[in-house]
Formats: sequence, C-alpha cells, structure tokens
Amino acid sequence: MNAWRSLSLVSAGQVDKNMMYELMETADRFRNGGGHSLPPGRRAGLLFFEPSTRTYQSFWAACDKLGLGVGGFSGTEGTSVMKGETLQDTVITMAQYCDLLVIRHPKIGSAQEAADCASVPVINAGDGAGEHPTQALLDIYTIQRELGKLDEITITLCGDLKNGRTTHSLIQLFSHFNLNLMLVSPPELRMPEEVKRIFRRSTISVIDDLEYALACSEVIYMTRVQRERFEDEAEYNRLKGSYRLDSALIKKTNPDITVMHPLPRVGEIADDVDDLPGAAYFRQAENGMWLRMALLECILGTA
Ligand code: NCD
Repeated sequence: MNAWRSLSLVSAGQVDKNMMYELMETADRFRNGGGHSLPPGRRAGLLFFEPSTRTYQSFWAACDKLGLGVGGFSGTEGTSVMKGETLQDTVITMAQYCDLLVIRHPKIGSAQEAADCASVPVINAGDGAGEHPTQALLDIYTIQRELGKLDEITITLCGDLKNGRTTHSLIQLFSHFNLNLMLVSPPELRMPEEVKRIFRRSTISVIDDLEYALACSEVIYMTRVQRERFEDEAEYNRLKGSYRLDSALIKKTNPDITVMHPLPRVGEIADDVDDLPGAAYFRQAENGMWLRMALLECILGTA
C-alpha cells in the first residue's frame, strides 16, 4: 500500500524515510522524461491566501505537466474571502470542484483546519509561521542531488529560525537521518524549543557565529527574516541584516559549501554568490517542480 495515496499532507511529521525516497525516485523519473499514471479529468485547487512565487508557480507547472486542471486563487482579491467568508466555507466549496487542494494561509493550524473539513486531500503550502512540508521535501531532494547523500553530513540552518516555517518542517525530516545540525540565529529568532525537540537523533548545536558554522558544514541553508510575522517594524529593521553571505565570506571559510535558500532572498545572500559552483538555490527551486509533480502523482495516482 502506497503511504502517500489520498494523504492530506499537513506536517512533515507525517513523512517517513521510505516516503521521502519514493518521492525522490518519482521526481527523478519525471525529470528524465518518464510519463505519469494519472487518469484524465482530475483538477487541483490552489488556495493561496498569502503571497508566493515559487510554491504557487511550481505547483501549477507540476499540474500542467501531469495534465491536471488548475483552479483557485493567488491573493484573496476577487474572492468571497473579501466578503468575510470563512476558511471552512471556502475550502468546502473548492473541494466540490477539485480532486486535491493546496493551501497557503497566514494562520498557524489553517492547513489542518482545511484538511478537517475538505472531502479531498489537502496539501499544506505554508500555514503562517507553522510548517511548509513540501518545501522541506524539495530541500531534502536538493541535498540528496547536490551531495549524493543525507547521512554523515553537517548542515547549518541560519536566519529567522523562530518564524521560518520551512526550517520547522525540515528539522522533522532531518530527524530520519544521521546528520549534525547547527542552528545560527540572533537570540530573538532562535528555533522554538518544541520544534527543536523533534530532532532527537543526532547532534544539534545552537550558536551565533556564522563563520564558524560555515567552516564546519557541507550545507548552509539561509533564510529570510520573516517581516510579515513581526508586530514591531523597528524590531524587524534591527534584526533583518543579522547574517549575510557573500562570495568573499564563502571563499574565506569553505569554498566548496553548498548554499541553499527557500527564496525569496532579501539581502541574506549577495548576488556575487550566484556564480559559485555551490550556489544551489535556483536548482533547488527547479527541484520543487519535479518533487511536487511526484507528490501530486503519489497522492492522486492509482498505481
Ligand atoms: C518560503 C515560505 O513561503 O515560507 N518561501 C517558499 O515557499 N519558497 C520562505 C520565505 O518566504 O521566506
């Protein structure tokens, strides 16, 4: 029995190692020109209550490549959300027109709420500062492709680890592998204890020295300070420039390091990093399309 079949993916905690490898193998098959097994006439609904470029467009591209129809919205302008419709009513309605829903919403727990009331599988594409499991899956796929392995490596997560939902999901997937994790952030933006506790397998160090972490790591995963989660703009302005990676710093500490970022970047990675061979963030964005194709086939397929 395929563990993905008809699954609502709300949290990375639902995903085990076999499920990750099944997705990665399916993604590779699609990348290499393999066909899909979805019956015709299926539709996906993209319900994006928050801004998105990569997640929205890569899900859409994945649907196109699988022959799935696409409906939904990116931004609530023009929808009945503007008239005060509840999340539940919007989800129940969209589920009548679609075989699967992908939801991004500013509220933590919103994806679970949607899954609880939808008659079709729901994929969490980001619930506030909560989780973003599909990003974490494509991050795992990227590490596997860039390094050829997921064990016996040191990975640094850097930036806004308090509000960065991609890191909250990623750390749960990391807990299936034997790797060392370094968390680098300003004290105000440390990863919440309850999220960190999930990573129980391997060593974890919390530090604030990026140079030291770079020298010790095979992968640096940078994140944006999440402006939209701050109540105080002055606090955001104070913290936004905490860490910045440029080509000089990489060459000085670890020229071979693989550089990842879920994107968008807003100053954490200088443009001059783009030309380094280890700059993987745009490859990571491409991987998202293949991985999401795999996810859609595994959830909706009949094979
Ligand atoms: C991330 C997100 O939305 O959480 N973006 C993405 O999906 N690639 C990261 C971010 O916005 O900082």
